[in-house]
Amino acid sequence: MLNTELWTELTPEEWLDREYAIGLAAAREHGVPFLASIGYTPDDLREIGPKVEAAGVDAIEFSIHYLDPTRLVETARALRESVKVPIIAKLTPHKGDLGELAAMIEPYVDGFACINSYGPTLRIDVDRAEPLLGSSLGYGWLSGAPIRPLAIRSVFEVARRVQKPVVGIGGIVTAKDVIEFFMAGASLVQVCTVILLRGQDYYTKLAKGVSDWLDAHGYEDISQVQGLYLKRLGLKV
Ligand SMILES: Cc1cc2nc3c(=O)[nH]c(=O)nc-3n(C[C@H](O)[C@H](O)[C@H](O)COP(=O)(O)O)c2cc1C
Repeated sequence: MLNTELWTELTPEEWLDREYAIGLAAAREHGVPFLASIGYTPDDLREIGPKVEAAGVDAIEFSIHYLDPTRLVETARALRESVKVPIIAKLTPHKGDLGELAAMIEPYVDGFACINSYGPTLRIDVDRAEPLLGSSLGYGWLSGAPIRPLAIRSVFEVARRVQKPVVGIGGIVTAKDVIEFFMAGASLVQVCTVILLRGQDYYTKLAKGVSDWLDAHGYEDISQVQGLYLKRLGLKV
């Protein structure tokens, strides 16, 4: 999938009062955590972080997608000093060595998420010689199955470097993809594009598929495959 979404069109109040209320109520009903995802500058995080924390979220993810990497430490510290809930740094594949970046901010965060969409990218409608997307220059960000090998490598690169947990995201389509992320060092996964394409019910199918795969391969628990590839290479015990 290619997308040109830059920022949300809802105001912070619309998010906090309406959208978060819906999400938090559902999370409480089902006994699962509710995470907020925000960005981008240190000032933004100082302002928005305490507001989403006060709304009752269990953790906050902050994205570095549009951030100058030289401001990374300053940004992580700004959020760390503004909220008490666990914080997760969401890393982007086009910012250099992600293991290096993760190590720099590890003291300030509780975990990492890899990866955001890749790009920018461009597609042209050749019949009209016009861009397929409506952004300036037609640029957009790539997600879904094509970025999975990049995401798997990124999770591996971060997981081998840091001690804190890594959330894997990028191109998950099947249950086997989830297993692959866990083997690369993830201890949680997120899913975006495949849900946009197949609908919300697909979460349940994916979760069941993971259980079935583990049963079929003689594993009692997903923790048994977590970091298996790192262990195989002797990079983690
Ligand atoms: C339409 C769309 C909008 C997105 N908006 C955001 C965003 O606002 N912040 C963010 O951190 N990631 C955003 N992403 C990236 C996803 O969270 C995810 O990191 C990426 O799409 C890779 O996962 P996937 O292949 O499962 O979609 C967006 C992705 C899509 C497809």
